[in-house]
Amino acid sequence: MAAFKVLLLPGDGIGPEVMAQARNVIAWLEKAGVAKFELDEDLVGGGAYEAHGKAISEAAMDKALAADAVLFGAVGGPKWDKVPYDVRPEAGLLRLRKDLVLFANLRPAICYPALADASSLKRELVDGLDIVIVRELTGGVYFGEPKTITDLGNGQKRAVDTQVYDTYEIERIARVAFELARTRRNKVTSMEKRNVMKTGVLWNEVVTQVHAREYKDVELEHQLADAGGMQLVRNPKQFDVIVTDNLFGDMLSDVAAMLTGSLGMLPSASLGEVDAKTKKRRALYEPVHGSAPDIAGKGLANPIAMIGSLSMALRYSFGLSQAADMIEQAISNVLAKGLRTADIAAGAKAVGTGEMGEAIVAELDTLAARA
Ligand code: IPM
Ligand code: MG
Repeated sequence: MAAFKVLLLPGDGIGPEVMAQARNVIAWLEKAGVAKFELDEDLVGGGAYEAHGKAISEAAMDKALAADAVLFGAVGGPKWDKVPYDVRPEAGLLRLRKDLVLFANLRPAICYPALADASSLKRELVDGLDIVIVRELTGGVYFGEPKTITDLGNGQKRAVDTQVYDTYEIERIARVAFELARTRRNKVTSMEKRNVMKTGVLWNEVVTQVHAREYKDVELEHQLADAGGMQLVRNPKQFDVIVTDNLFGDMLSDVAAMLTGSLGMLPSASLGEVDAKTKKRRALYEPVHGSAPDIAGKGLANPIAMIGSLSMALRYSFGLSQAADMIEQAISNVLAKGLRTADIAAGAKAVGTGEMGEAIVAELDTLAARA
């Protein structure tokens, strides 16, 4: 059995705690004979800054480039609020995305029936929700140049961020969205601000063209991103796949997270282009939640988004979709049995990170024995 090379980057805050639970699931997969993994681990974010003076070392970047997949925890925290902008913890994550060309970020928002009451929306609006936000991840205002703050010399400063998209960037993310929709309910909603932004005009035009040329069988709808945000909380089940740019995707995916009950539930996959020769693609898997410094080190964090991210790695990088299904089933069963971490407890008794992780592994044992 070939071993998959996986680089673990637990990062800061609750990152290491939730990563420890993903490690336990990896150990279970090996024990169950599902796959073999060659694990390596390194620093990213504030931890890397402390050790190397930058948010990720060149050695860690080399490991990431050589890995079959990167599993990422979280970065950042108030401790590093004052460090220079270029080496702030988030720069490590952004460099990984950029240098690995992980342009397609898939953020599925699934509301498990057992959690519908943990959402801030009414149960009937979110119960059974299953949507995916496809966020463009290597372009737009995150990376556009110039990106500066200039002193105007008259007591004023001017800050500039640049939103920029080329045709090819919109085409490739649109294709990811259409392909994904074909495996689901066959509907794509594209969101931009063509009423005020040139990038929105081009985005709309290119998505429309890709659709007409290659994906006529998929239903395509366009919404202005602000109206789309409203629809996401008014009637989220109208969506299947939402495709949008880097910044709108960042915001809309946090909104979508709350539909599922908690940010602690949302996994994500960041994918590169499939290599024509090797058929492999670079990939990084990370929970959508951040480092949650307020609860870090207390064993309270919800490990489900991290374990769900591992499950996405099995599906999108390792061709182990049965094992991925099993992990998702284990998560669902554990929730159905009433186990809750504090973020999804809605007042009921909560368990810690370790207990939730162990319960999921125990459920995997049960499911495997039945299979
Ligand atoms: C996310 C995060 C990141 C982003 C931060 C940590 C740089 O919010 O992945 O959604 O803005 O992309
Ligand atoms: Mg975000």
